[in-house]
Amino acid sequence: MKMPAGIFPDMAKQLKSATTDFHRALDHHEMLRGLLSTPISEVNYTIALTALFGPTEALEIALSDYLPLEKFSPRAALIAKDLQDLKAQLLPCSIPLPTFESESAIVGGLYVLEGSHLGGSVIAKHLHHHSTISLPCRFFSESEGYTRWQRFWNYLTPRLPHLNQEDATEAAKATFSFFIAHFDECAKLNRTRKAQLNSHLGL
Ligand code: HEM
Repeated sequence: MKMPAGIFPDMAKQLKSATTDFHRALDHHEMLRGLLSTPISEVNYTIALTALFGPTEALEIALSDYLPLEKFSPRAALIAKDLQDLKAQLLPCSIPLPTFESESAIVGGLYVLEGSHLGGSVIAKHLHHHSTISLPCRFFSESEGYTRWQRFWNYLTPRLPHLNQEDATEAAKATFSFFIAHFDECAKLNRTRKAQLNSHLGL
């Protein structure tokens, strides 16, 4: 996605370049693989949403006080509603949250949550064009993409001089790692369930 030059501050550029590899580990993770497949299967879509729910909810509870609710609505409830329609259970996150001990660290964590809207818009388009079945997609289709991303950085602009770039970067990395650790746990759980089912069926 092309961003207009000059609008995004150094902090945004630094966070992006420091976390590119983390993002790659996340968007290539086996838990999310189903989101951009063609065609999209209900099972893989449900697996991806289930994995996204726990860490999104935990981070929103920990961090969302920092942003005005009316401009930055939390989104875990949208995943929960989609999962309810898919008749899937909600899987809470058992990985300990990173510590967000300073305003800079909170901003680093929010960078990850808010940035996920950019991917959300891409996924919503993919779902629209490639799903042959009707899937509940409030979470992705209500991503505000680049508009919210710009709003996020506009909101932060007056605060940036008080923030420490290094602390924000460390927190952003820890937040990505938190998602990755939870996805790894989900993958393990899925493998165990599959093995149990196979053994039950005598396969
Ligand atoms: C299959 C899943 C995903 C896809 C396809 C995807 C795709 C994208 C795309 C296309 C962008 C815009 C990149 C750019 O402008 O250079 C983006 C940005 C971003 N995504 Fe994802 N994403 C995915 C999952 C996630 C998840 C789960 C998170 C975090 C929980 C996340 C966090 C971010 C962040 C923080 C940015 C902002 C990067 C920046 O600083 O510009 N993404 N993503």
